[in-house]
Order: sequence, then C-alpha cells, then structure tokens
Amino acid sequence: MSYMPSIPPHDIEAQLAEHDNKSILRFITCGSVDDGKSTLIGRLLYDAKLIFEDQLANLRRVGAANGNEIDLALLLDGLEAEREQGITIDVAYRYFATPKRKFIVADTPGHEEYTRNMVTGASTADLAIILIDSRQGILQQTRRHSYIASLLGIRHVVLAVNKIDLVDFRRQVFDEIATDYLAFARELGFVSIQPIPISARYGDNVISASVNTPWYKGLALLEYLETVDLDPPAKERPFRFPVQLVMRPNADFRGYAGQVASGHISVGDPVVIAKSGQRSTVKEIVTYAGNREAAGEGEAVTLVLADEVDVSRGNMLVPAAAQPYVADQFQAHVIWLDESPMFPGRSYILRTETDSVNATVTTLKHQVNINSLVREAAKSLQMNEIGVCNISTQSPIAFDAYKDNRATGNFIFVDRVTNATVGAGMIDFPLRRADNVHWHALEVNKSARSAMKNQRPAVLWFTGLSGSGKSTIANTLDRILHARGKHTYLLDGDNVRHGLNRDLGFTDEDRVENIRRVAEVAKLMADAGLIVLVSFISPFRDERRMARELMEEGEFIEIFVDTPIDECARRDPKGLYEKAFAGKIANFTGVSSLYEAPENPDLHLKTVEEDRVALALKIEAFLDQWMEEK
Ligand code: ADX
Repeated sequence: MSYMPSIPPHDIEAQLAEHDNKSILRFITCGSVDDGKSTLIGRLLYDAKLIFEDQLANLRRVGAANGNEIDLALLLDGLEAEREQGITIDVAYRYFATPKRKFIVADTPGHEEYTRNMVTGASTADLAIILIDSRQGILQQTRRHSYIASLLGIRHVVLAVNKIDLVDFRRQVFDEIATDYLAFARELGFVSIQPIPISARYGDNVISASVNTPWYKGLALLEYLETVDLDPPAKERPFRFPVQLVMRPNADFRGYAGQVASGHISVGDPVVIAKSGQRSTVKEIVTYAGNREAAGEGEAVTLVLADEVDVSRGNMLVPAAAQPYVADQFQAHVIWLDESPMFPGRSYILRTETDSVNATVTTLKHQVNINSLVREAAKSLQMNEIGVCNISTQSPIAFDAYKDNRATGNFIFVDRVTNATVGAGMIDFPLRRADNVHWHALEVNKSARSAMKNQRPAVLWFTGLSGSGKSTIANTLDRILHARGKHTYLLDGDNVRHGLNRDLGFTDEDRVENIRRVAEVAKLMADAGLIVLVSFISPFRDERRMARELMEEGEFIEIFVDTPIDECARRDPKGLYEKAFAGKIANFTGVSSLYEAPENPDLHLKTVEEDRVALALKIEAFLDQWMEEK
C-alpha cells in the first residue's frame, strides 16, 4: 500500500490545496524508553511510505518568501528568534499525511526529562498513544502519563499493547491489560479509549490487520488514527492575541506582533487591551506575505491599532464581549519537573505564552497520588509530582481557564537563577479574594516615620551557620546603635521561633516559610522607620534574594557571618553539633541539611580573624557610609 499522492510532484499548489482541506490529528506517543515509541513511529512512516508534510511546508515557505519585502521578512525572523529564547524544551514535531488526514506527531525524546517533553507535546495534542510492553502490563509510568494526558486536555487514547509477538499473540494477555487499563482510566474523563494489540517491530496491526491476531476485530493503528472521530469543532473560542513583541521600526509604525492563540480577527474589529481595559480598533493586519483582511488561530501576524494605546509584551488583545481573567491570584494544577522540589513561599518566574512575572505558590492544597488518583496532603512537590496550588503573582496577568483555552490557560515556572523550566501549570480559576482587599495608602508614611527618627531605615540581614556568631555580633551592634540614639530592632531566629514561627520546624519547606515570614516582618519594621537586624541561618539563596527584593532598592544589607563548620562545632554554644553529629537532630544545617553561602554579600565577616566587637564596629562604619550615600 502506498500513500504517495497521485498529483504530479511539480504541481505544488494543487498538493497543498488538497492537503489543506483534510482534517488534522495531533498526537503524542507516551511510554518508557524500551516500550518502542520511535520504532512505532518509524514503522508507521516507513510501511505506509508516507509523504512528509514538512517537506511541503518548506516549499510553501520558500515560495512565500520570493518577492517579499525585506522588512516584513525580518519581522518574521524577529518573531522566530523570540520563540527560540522562550521555553527551552526539546520537542520536535513531525508532519505526515495520508489521503484521509494530516498528522502532527510530537516527538518527545530524552528519557531523563521525559515528563517535561511530554507536557509540551501533550499541550496541543488531540490524542495520546499510550504504549505498553505486553510482558510488563500497566506500570506506574503508564498511569502517570495517562493522568498527565488527561490533565493537559487530551480526550482520546489509543492503548497500544506492544510487543504482542513476545507473548505469542495471546489474546488473554491483551484482554487483561485492556481491562486493567479501562478500570484505572475510568476517572480520567477520556472520550474514547481504543486498545490495539501491535508489534511495532514486525508491523502487526500497525497499518493493516495482522494474520497473527485473528481474534482482534478492531482497526489497525493507522486506520484508527485516520478515522477516529475528533470532537466536533467546538463553537469557535473567543479571539485571543497575546502580544509577543511591540514593533516600532520607525516613528510612523507601531504594531503588535504575536500569534493568534484562538478565534479570529478582521480589519475594523474593535478590541480591548486586556489588562487596562482600553479600547481601540484593528487598523491593519500585517504578515510577512503582505497585508491581510483577517487572521485566524495559529497565524503569526502584526496588528496595527487605530489609536495610541499602551500595550506591552505579555498583554492581550481580546474582544470586549469575551474578555479573559485579569488577576494576580488563581488556582492551578502544577506538574513539578525539577529535581529540586517546589516549596510554597519560594519565588519563581511564572511565564505564560508571552508574559513573565514573579510568582509564589501561596498554598499547596493537595498532591495527587498517581496510582490511586486520591488527593493527599503535601508540603512540597518532588519531581514528577502533581499538585493543586494557589498561586500569587507580583502583578496581574491575563489568562483563561485551561479547560476553556489551552493556549492562554497554561504557564511554566522558571528557576530564577538557572533559568531552567522547573514546573508546568494549568490554570483552574482566578481567586476573587484579592479583589476586596485593597492596599491602604497610609497618611503617615515611611519617610515621615524615619525622618522623625533621624535615620534611614535598613534591613541588616545576618546569615551563617548555627553557632557562627550571628546573634552575638548582631547584639553587639544593636547596643552600639542604641547608644547612639538609633531606633533599632533585632529579630533573632531562636526567639521568633518561640512565637510567630512556633509552628515551623527545620525541613526545607519550613525554613522557606520561616524566612518568608520574617522577611515580611522586617519589611513592616523598615516601613516603620526602624533599622532592623535579622539574625537567621537563612540557608537558601533563593529566600535571601526574595527578602532583598521585598525591600526597597538598597535597603537590604546582606552580612555573611563566615565561620567554618569545624569552628562552629568546636564552639558548640548550645551543644547542638554534638547531638547532630550523633544523629540525634535531623536536618541540621551544615551536617544533614544544606547551607548555601552567599556569593556576593554586602559584608563578609570572618569570625576566626576578628572578635565580635571589631566586627560590629566594621558594620557600624559600613552603615555610616551607607547613610551618607543617600
Ligand atoms: S533557619 O534555617 O530557618 O533560618 P533559624 O535561624 O530560624 O533557622 O533557626 C536556627 C536555630 O535553631 C539554630 O541556631 C539552633 O539553635 C536551632 N536549631 C534547632 N534545630 C536545628 C536544625 N536542625 N538546624 C539548624 N538549627 C537548628
């Protein structure tokens, strides 16, 4: 059987037209490394001698580029460069076609970061082929992939029971796997699940029925993919245009470049700028192939508006009658993708298609057990775990619920230091509670308060191991400043842990929360005009950075009290090291829990070289100079 087209190859336009009229099925393959993902795709393409749509697409691109204005071509280049910088995920899409349908399969390589690649591939797919090794049956991986597929909005599943040749084409094996799977997947809400016994290696039931499985009466894989009923085209979703780039090549031209995420737009249509509510009309639709009257889903265009309005990257152009949510708090399902766990209270960069803001998970409501699909309490999310979270962003973002719009309802979490993608999220709904809590502008403000005290507020943040001398030096400095008539307050870890933070222990997640709270308290005290001395181990860079960013520019002074752990253990003022080394205290900093030394502290104090008074005087001198700088 051959699917080579009947049209002569030189008649490209006719070929393209024929292909344009066919429906498209987007799918992914899920399975472990040895389940035969690539063998299956190779087998599909090879046996069916399928033409590669990417080859056609290439021709189309070359054709369109001829006779184009240079500027507009550059415009497209700009967009592509942007896209490359975006999400660093490695997914290749393969295009192929049969006379009945076009296919896009997301090739998700790399077993190391398989979940991450799968999430990317699945977020646009209609169908998932879940591969199972007949000899092994359903594994935890199978359940995880199925749950993620359903979470990402995939509605159709092919259960490819592979390597059926290795179990002698036995019907019983196939039936048992199919029954187990159907029972497990009942709660996942798939519209269709089709089990097919196959051998990717030998081609059984891949493109045509196999004589080795006379008991299987269903369609072969490719026949099934060609005919599976996709969801009827839903009522067209509202127009969404996330702005990727503001184009301003000269004073006469201002356009907003991006990709139509859903719906369509025509010249003359009224639009609203989602975040500000400003209104305007579409004056021109510019593409690399010239101006257009209209544009639809998936098309990359530049929109020119009739009015001078304020739109920047990350904003969204939308219709007045169907606006997205604009909020800074919402609930989302989060899949964690990084080895270092997700902690509520830690700050991450949250990226939507085009927007990027600082965000924290304020509450981890529960985690989902992949095997039983039961909700379980959790304090952090480990790699590959999935949880339901309340999230708070530093400024509002525009979004839809993921179930309504996959393109505008998803986001990723990015690590602030490494820039790696560490999590993926699907937004459930906005949280309204922030709506009715407004920031109250106080009449007696910070500068009035600090002027009366005749000082510049500051947060002196002492970090270092337990027993390093933080509190001793902070106390000495506090006495010096107090004697000079300065208004200060000393927040000390041991003390605060008796009151405000009594509920917290020493796990990583509790330390993150410990520091988050004390940073908020220090901020309020600085706002009251005080010089705040904070003496906490504060072992993680992420949270110290968070504390710095919480304060006003220049207000946060990081002081590294640097004492080697051997010296701390020798001094052992509270006898804790002895216990820790004996294994009697769990998670002890420097022994069984991490301490990330500051890389660039404002002050670096070495306690083995100078005594506490000399060091306190050093800080005082630093502070005096700092006060002058203002
Ligand atoms: S932090 O890591 O969360 O910043 P914090 O400064 O509040 O720690 O508290 C540290 C103090 O708690 C130590 O000085 C010590 O007295 C006490 N402590 C008790 N258990 C531990 C532990 N497992 N690790 C570190 N400090 C501990």
